[in-house]
Amino acid sequence: MSGKRMRAAVAAAVALSMVTAITLSACQRGGQDAAVEVPAAQRSQATPVIPLPAKVELREGVFALDAGTRLQAANGDKDAARIARDFAARVQRLRGFAPSVDASGQAQGEAAHTVVFAIDRQAALPSDEAYTLDIGPEGARIQARAPAGLFYGAVTLWQLATSDGGRGTAQIAAQRIEDAPRFPWRGLMLDSARHFQSVEQVKTLIDQMALHKLNTFHWHLTDDQGWRIEIKKYPRLTEVGACRIPAGASGHDPATGAPLPYCGFYTQDQIRDVVAYAAERYVTVVPEIEMPGHAQAAIAAYPEYGVSDVLKAPPPVSPDWGVHTYLFNTDDATFGFLQDVLAEVTALFPGRYVHIGGDEAAKDQWQASPSIQAQKAALGLKDEMAMQSWFVARIEKYLGSRNRSLVGWDEILEGGLPPRATVMSWRGTKGAIEAARAGHDVILSPAPDLYFDHVQSDNDDEPAGRLAAITLKAVYGFEPVPTELTPEQAKHVLGAQANLWTEHRRSFDAAERALFPRTAALAEAVWSPKGARDWDSFLRRLVPQMARYQAQNVQASDAAFAVRYQAERDAQGQPRVKLSNQVGFGQIRYVEGKGPLSNASPLYDTALPLRPPTTFQAATYVDGRALSAPRRYAPADMAALTQRTGNRLRQCKGGLNLRMEDDAPADGIGGRSPRAALLADVFDPCWIYEGAALDQVGAIEVRVGQLPYNYQLWRDTPKIVSRPANGPEGALEVRADGCEGAPIAVLPLGSARRTAGLTTLRGKVAPTAGTHDLCLVFASGSHDPLWAIERVTLRPR
Ligand code: ACM
Repeated sequence: MSGKRMRAAVAAAVALSMVTAITLSACQRGGQDAAVEVPAAQRSQATPVIPLPAKVELREGVFALDAGTRLQAANGDKDAARIARDFAARVQRLRGFAPSVDASGQAQGEAAHTVVFAIDRQAALPSDEAYTLDIGPEGARIQARAPAGLFYGAVTLWQLATSDGGRGTAQIAAQRIEDAPRFPWRGLMLDSARHFQSVEQVKTLIDQMALHKLNTFHWHLTDDQGWRIEIKKYPRLTEVGACRIPAGASGHDPATGAPLPYCGFYTQDQIRDVVAYAAERYVTVVPEIEMPGHAQAAIAAYPEYGVSDVLKAPPPVSPDWGVHTYLFNTDDATFGFLQDVLAEVTALFPGRYVHIGGDEAAKDQWQASPSIQAQKAALGLKDEMAMQSWFVARIEKYLGSRNRSLVGWDEILEGGLPPRATVMSWRGTKGAIEAARAGHDVILSPAPDLYFDHVQSDNDDEPAGRLAAITLKAVYGFEPVPTELTPEQAKHVLGAQANLWTEHRRSFDAAERALFPRTAALAEAVWSPKGARDWDSFLRRLVPQMARYQAQNVQASDAAFAVRYQAERDAQGQPRVKLSNQVGFGQIRYVEGKGPLSNASPLYDTALPLRPPTTFQAATYVDGRALSAPRRYAPADMAALTQRTGNRLRQCKGGLNLRMEDDAPADGIGGRSPRAALLADVFDPCWIYEGAALDQVGAIEVRVGQLPYNYQLWRDTPKIVSRPANGPEGALEVRADGCEGAPIAVLPLGSARRTAGLTTLRGKVAPTAGTHDLCLVFASGSHDPLWAIERVTLRPR
C-alpha cells in the first residue's frame, strides 16, 4: 500500500472508531434482526466485505498482514489448522505471499504479529456458522464455536486483506466484527443436465459459493435432456441417458453430416470427490433427481419405467427445451427402480435433503394410460394431481426410511403435500406462503427474481438468456421473507437460493457470467441483517469484489458497469452520442480515435458530438480501477442514427422472449468466436422499430440469423405463429403502422439460408412520408428455423 492509501485507511479507521453498530442477529430462522447504526458509506470503506457482516466496530490503527505474519491454530486443532492453511493459500494467490501456519499447539499466549484461528465449543455465539473477528494493530483473532464459523471468519479476513487489489503486505483497518447468517439455507442451483460442467468447473463454483458464505449447492442432475449421475444398478441411465443429439447445426458434423452427440455424466467417484470438496468448504450438496416429470432421458434408457402402455417407442434423450410429457410410471416396478436409484444417491450425498423435482409434470400420459387410470380408481384418488401427491408421499416415505428429508418444487403442493416435505417456491412466492402457513419449511427461489438464467441487462453484448432482465440491483433488493407471513410462519423460511438453468448457457464461462456478480447480491440478501442492506454501500464494496473475481479468473459479468452508447440528434438537430452505464455508478472515461483507454483518459460528462467515421472506447472506473472492460462504438456514417440493435427493437407481443445464440456454424462465426445472441419471441417472432422518420429513407438493411426451433411448449403450443412463405425461400417483410397490409419493403431470405452465421439483407423501401412504427416479420413458411433480427439500419435515398 502506498503511504497515501495507508493514511487513508488509518483515517477511515479513526473516523469510525467512535461509531458502534448493531446487535448480532441471533435468529436462525425467519430472518428477524435489528437495525444498523453505522453509516454505510464509512463502513464500506473500512470493511469492504460481501456479504456485509452483522456487526462492525471500528478501532484505532491498522494491522499489517505480511509474509512474517504467523497463523496460529489454537490448541493445535486440526480443523483450525486446515482453515488457516486454506487462508494462507488464498492470500498467496492474491497477494503473492503465504503466511506460515503454526499447528503445533505449543504457542504460549498470543504473540505479536499473529492471527489466531480458534474453535471454542463453549463460545457464546448464536450458531455454528457465527464467528467473531478481532483485528488490532498487533494481530487478529478469529473465534467460532465450530469449524464452519471459523471458516467464515477467515473468509472475512481474506476479503479485508485483498480489498486494495494489490500484492505484498495488506493493511487492514483495526475492527471487531461479530457475524452470523440471517438464514440457514443460502443456496445456488446449477443445472448440469441441459449443459454439462466438468468436475473442476463444479468445484470452482462451490469454492466461490463458500467465499460468498453460501452453504447449499443444489445440483440438478437429471432432466429430459440428460441423466448426469452414474447409477451402478442401471448403467443405461448414463450409457443412453447422458447423450443427446443437439438440435440445429451443432448436432451434426458440417463435413459429413454425421450426428455429434452431446454427452456428459459424473461417476460415483467424481461425485464423492465433489461432495468431500464441498464439505471442506462447509457447503452441503443437495442432489436433485427429477420425478415424476422431466424424466425423458431416464425413459429413453429404460422405457419400461415410463408410461409403457401409451409409449409407442422409446423416446430419444430430448434435444428440446421446455415442458415435455414423458412421466415415470406409477407401478411397483417403477417405484422399485426409483428407490434403487435413491438408495445409491443417498449413499453418495450425506446431507439431510434430497430434492425430487416434482415440477412441470404434464399429466397427459397418465391421463391416457388405462393401467394408471385403473390404479387411480383403485386408490380412490380424485385426479392426476392427487396421483402425483400420492407418488411424492410414497417417495417421501422411502427417503424417511433412509433418514432423509424430501424437498420438491412447489408443484408438490398440488393435490396435497406429504407430511414432512420442504417446498422450494419457484412460481413466485405463493407456494412458499401456502406451505409455510401449513407448517412446512420453505425455500424461496422465485422466478424471475432469483432465476439467473435471465439476462442481466439490455446491453448489446449481453449473452443468451431469458427476458426480462434481472439486474444486479433487482437481485440485491430481493427479500426472502414474504410480507404475507406472520413472524411465526416466517420461521419456516429456511432461506433462499438462486437457480441457474443452463439451456442458454453452453459454456462454463457463460454460466459464471450469469452467476457473478449477482451471487454477491444474493449472498447479502441471505446472510446480512435485513436492515443493513444498502445498495450504494454494496456497489462500493463490489469494486474490490470485481477485482477479486478477476484475480481468481472468475468470469464475472461487467454488464452493470459496461458503457452503453446512444446516438441521437439534439434539439438543434446536431448528432451526438450519450454514454451511460446500467447502475449510474463510477466515472466513465473515454477516448475518441486512437490511443489506449486508461484511468487518465477524459472523463465523460455530457453528450459528445458525433462525427463519423470515428471510434470511441469507454469504460467505468472507480478509484482508478476499471470496473468494466472497454466497450467500442465505431459508427461508419450517419446511418448510426437510424441503426437499432435487436434489443432496441420492441417485441410485438409479451410472448416468450429469449436471447438465443445463433446456430450456424456449429462453433460460432468463423470457428471459435462466440455466437451472436439474438432476441426473439419464440411464440411469434415479430419486431417493432419505433418512430422511424421515413421521409428521406430509401433502403433498409437487416442483419439476421437463424436458430433451431427446439422448444416443447405443451399447452402453449397453439401460441406459435408461422407465416406463409413470401417467395420460394421466404422473405423478411417490413410494414408501416401495424403488421397487416402491404409491406413497404420485402427482403428475400435466400442469401441468409445459404450463409453460415449472420447475414445482412438489403432492400428498397417504398417512398413513405412521415414518422411511423415499422413492423418486421419473417414470412418464411415455417417456424423452424426460427429467424431473428440482429440489427436494422435505415439508409437515405
Ligand atoms: C422450474 O423452473 N421448472 C423449477
